[in-house]
Amino acid sequence: MERTFAIIKPDAVERKLAGQILARIEEKGFNIVGMKKIQLTKKQAEGFYYVHSARPFFNDLCAFMSRSPVIVLCLEKENAIADWRTLMGATNPANAEPGTIRKDFAVNIEENSSHGSDAPETAAFEIPYFFSALELV
Ligand code: RTP
Ligand code: MG
Repeated sequence: MERTFAIIKPDAVERKLAGQILARIEEKGFNIVGMKKIQLTKKQAEGFYYVHSARPFFNDLCAFMSRSPVIVLCLEKENAIADWRTLMGATNPANAEPGTIRKDFAVNIEENSSHGSDAPETAAFEIPYFFSALELV
């Protein structure tokens, strides 16, 4: 079993798409081991995305991620990291496969509805950024 970290981003929560995204997560066999709705501060978003701090889109990204609430999730299944990335689709919805979350729901390359850890080391940083061990069941 493997764990990954996911976010239903502000654009999706604002448009009441969380239920549809959670249904897809459960249909694909993920176990939701942690879930909460929070609103990030700009500083918390910057800490989460620190690997992108030199990118031109960093400021816009952190403003977007802190503008309204998100739903943060810890998901578990075999091959969870890669399988959640597959279910989300490509970063730019224009390049995402049909049937993926980003193809069906994303507004554009930035407001792309979901986040997923991209490697085991990333998941190991991201899960405890949001959840204590007692919150994962
Ligand atoms: P994520 O980390 O959110 O799961 O997305 P990702 O791996 O598919 O993409 P990444 O390269 O890590 O980028 C993180 C997020 O930054 C925003 N972005 N905007 N304006 C742009 O060109 C641009 N590029 C990326 C997106 O919200 C992307 O998911
Ligand atoms: Mg990424």
